[in-house]
Amino acid sequence: MSRAYNFCAGPATLPESVLAQARDEMLDWRGTGMSVMEMSHRSDAFVEIAETAERDLRELAGVSDDYAVLFMQGGASSQFSTIPLNLLGDKASADYVNTGIWSKKAIAEAKRYADVNVVASSEEGGFASIPDQASWQTRADAAYLHYTPNETIGGLEFDFVPDSANVPLVADMSSTMLSRPVDISKFGLIYAGAQKNIGPPGWLSSLFGKTFWAKLARKRRP
Ligand SMILES: Cc1ncc(COP(=O)(O)O)c(C=O)c1O
Repeated sequence: MSRAYNFCAGPATLPESVLAQARDEMLDWRGTGMSVMEMSHRSDAFVEIAETAERDLRELAGVSDDYAVLFMQGGASSQFSTIPLNLLGDKASADYVNTGIWSKKAIAEAKRYADVNVVASSEEGGFASIPDQASWQTRADAAYLHYTPNETIGGLEFDFVPDSANVPLVADMSSTMLSRPVDISKFGLIYAGAQKNIGPPGWLSSLFGKTFWAKLARKRRP
């Protein structure tokens, strides 16, 4: 069989050895005689898979025990509503930075639940630059500050982590996570779709020195 080479930004070509291992383990996960899709989610074999995935992710991303790691369904887009629904608490407003298409989608969804304050936007300039943080109109009563470190479609990327001393900083790291060391302690919550940078494109991205994905949520302290 001749293999096609797909170098898209989404799912892309994988090494044959990786595909062969996935095929073999799909028929028989490490001698259990079944695939991961056929085993109980309470079985020792599956619990080990889940625990190893979390342990590896924590190690790769430098996530301390102060944070919870949640593997959830729905991709990054579902977090556009999950975040305001869970982080607003007794507050009514949230701050958002608009630097491109994914920021706009997050803002549109948050507006269904919160009084969204767009603290800065580079839309007028065609999303060509990151607004200087000194000009951001943040609110003291915001529940959190949300931004998109790398806008996958427009390609606009922050070269700094915004200072958000007073409210939790929330980041859509869909096109950023694991591309470089990140000081997680600066963030209240990081989210990303696991199918992207940690999936097939992650391999390609690492090849080209670009980006990875993950989904992390801060553990609530009592
Ligand atoms: C920055 C960013 N946010 C959100 C998404 C949407 O992710 P999902 O497909 O997991 O909903 C994408 C998808 O490419 C993205 O690049």
